[in-house]
Amino acid sequence: ALPESQRTATNSPAIDTVIVLGDEASDASSPLSVAGRELVDGISKILGRSVSLGSSSSQHTSSTLVVGVRDAFTLLEGVPSSSPLDHTDGYWIDPASSSSPSRIIGHDARGVLYGAFAYLSKLAQGRLSSEAWGSSPRAPIRWINQWDNMDGTIERGYGGRSLFFEGGAIREDLARVKEYARLMASVGLNGIVINNVNANASLLSEESLANGVKRVADIMRPYGVRIGLALNFDAPRTLGGLETSDPLDENVVAWWTEKTHLIYKYVPDMLGYTIKANSEGQPGPLSYGRTLAEGANLFAKPLSQYGGFVFYRAFVYDHHLREDNPKNDRANAAVDFFAHLDDAFDDNVVVQVKFGPIDFQVREPVSPLLARLRKTKAVIEFMVAQEYMGQQTHAVYLAPQWQEVLAFDMRVDGKPSLVRDILSPSGPFGWPTTGYTAVVNVGRDTTWLGHHLAMANLYAYGRLTWAPESDARVLLDEWTRLTWSTDPEVVETLGNLLMDTWPAYEGHSGNLGIQTLCDILYTHYGPSPASQDGNGWGQWTRANAKSLGMDRTVATGTGFAGQYHPEVASVYEKIETTPDNLLLWFHHVPYTHVLKSGKTVIQHFYDAHYEGAAMVQTFSQRWASLRGKIDDARWEHVAFKLAYQAGHALVWRDSVCRFYHSLSGIDDDKKRVGHY
Ligand code: GCU
Repeated sequence: ALPESQRTATNSPAIDTVIVLGDEASDASSPLSVAGRELVDGISKILGRSVSLGSSSSQHTSSTLVVGVRDAFTLLEGVPSSSPLDHTDGYWIDPASSSSPSRIIGHDARGVLYGAFAYLSKLAQGRLSSEAWGSSPRAPIRWINQWDNMDGTIERGYGGRSLFFEGGAIREDLARVKEYARLMASVGLNGIVINNVNANASLLSEESLANGVKRVADIMRPYGVRIGLALNFDAPRTLGGLETSDPLDENVVAWWTEKTHLIYKYVPDMLGYTIKANSEGQPGPLSYGRTLAEGANLFAKPLSQYGGFVFYRAFVYDHHLREDNPKNDRANAAVDFFAHLDDAFDDNVVVQVKFGPIDFQVREPVSPLLARLRKTKAVIEFMVAQEYMGQQTHAVYLAPQWQEVLAFDMRVDGKPSLVRDILSPSGPFGWPTTGYTAVVNVGRDTTWLGHHLAMANLYAYGRLTWAPESDARVLLDEWTRLTWSTDPEVVETLGNLLMDTWPAYEGHSGNLGIQTLCDILYTHYGPSPASQDGNGWGQWTRANAKSLGMDRTVATGTGFAGQYHPEVASVYEKIETTPDNLLLWFHHVPYTHVLKSGKTVIQHFYDAHYEGAAMVQTFSQRWASLRGKIDDARWEHVAFKLAYQAGHALVWRDSVCRFYHSLSGIDDDKKRVGHY
């Protein structure tokens, strides 16, 4: 509940009754009835007073909150002629006046639910406006990809075992799945792929669909969350007993068509399939001499009759790449594999593109593929799971990184083309189905994500998919007010602390665009700059005794810079115009190269590592100042994690500095690294 001092007149509407309009209001599986229940429960808990659910015939007074889809209202008094109510999932909220009730109006039932959560969010923050307001999402696709395995483990999972699976089947107890759907709806997310991209085909057996997948879909549906499945391309062979999984083989086509019918029999509103094919050893159409488009269309055809989508991941690359060929570059792969197929994909194929060309690194330029498909729709893929970013043992708030990506101008045809506009139906390509997906690793841990502060990322991700122009700091403050406290000191301290986490992590891990510098071969966690070369994965730095960085120019390098539209390409082609923070991504330079800051590359490495690690040392102290202002249990959990993070930041600093010192033989001007 809000502290008494914050229950001001505006913040405490005298609501005593919630009325849900429409026949569906009494159908427990409808988002409308969920909205009603959430409002009754939420308002009474936030304001500490009793609120009841009225019937549609109850009288409307200024202490009533009336909610429903717009057609359920006889009069839409006060709603502007063009408003968020014109758009799918949009809502309009109108606080009570002395003579009329408060209203939450939705374009559709899900819009009503989003409106209900928006109302509760403002109320809980003590910020309910006395003016009417509304909102609708910029993008229709606002998804999550869980990488859960059927044995109950989660790939790159750091928050406990799967909510969905255990022992090769869907779990009996799905109570947390319901809470997850509720969490997703409260931040505007509307779809989830429940199993790993490295999928296990046995999920598709009729037994598993009827007794497992269907139950998950039924539980999540009332929250406006639809489910999708990740498929294994080779399932016709491994599960179906066919001799091949060739996408043009008629038995294979028939097998997938029948499977799709079967899935829709149990989940009639299934969103579609996520496919990771020809990636990291996974089977795919290329294994049968077919194109990636032929592979994607194999699934698109049977899905089209149900309105389902194929999310075809662009994460296709050769993971046995030879570093001795200076032209080899994994970063080139997505455009090389996909751009020429722009005309070849069916209408309901959506290419799923990681935000950067490599793999969720601490800093990458935006994937050029997002500006190279025009006819074929795309979604961007972010990662809440922090695989390369401290794995939810470090606190690293990622929304500032996503905000930068979304605000990047791709200059398609020489015109403004911000990534966030490309990812919207009103953007330059006019893709009706576009938007967002993120790898999320919610598990059974009581913290959901292994670290109480990691939830800031999931909150911000949801809000950005809805309103991608949002400011990372504003979102953080909202989250703090909702999750921890409305005390201004808590909001300010936690906000400042978390805003420092990504720069600090970049400082003590890999800077100047060199990538994260973690162990690339196995864990993707602690420092291992040496593992960044000589591996087949193609995550290279080309560091030697004199120089480092990937020459990705067109003139002398791998040509990657040329995958961007000309205005962007020309910025990255030249050292002088490449921003320092991406210098080593695009150029190979001596350690003594002088940056725009006036420092040499090697001195910048030393300084950034010391500064980043020093910043992390301050986190514990700053957190200590919040003791007593938030509950002890969560305070202690976070204090423990931050103390560990402080120590690990020093390990990072020393490993990376010593590695480059011994490689280059150049001492630190400030006499911290080297021989004096
Ligand atoms: C990374 C990650 C893998 C994952 C892959 C993917 O490489 O380490 O675990 O399978 O991304 O996105 O498919």
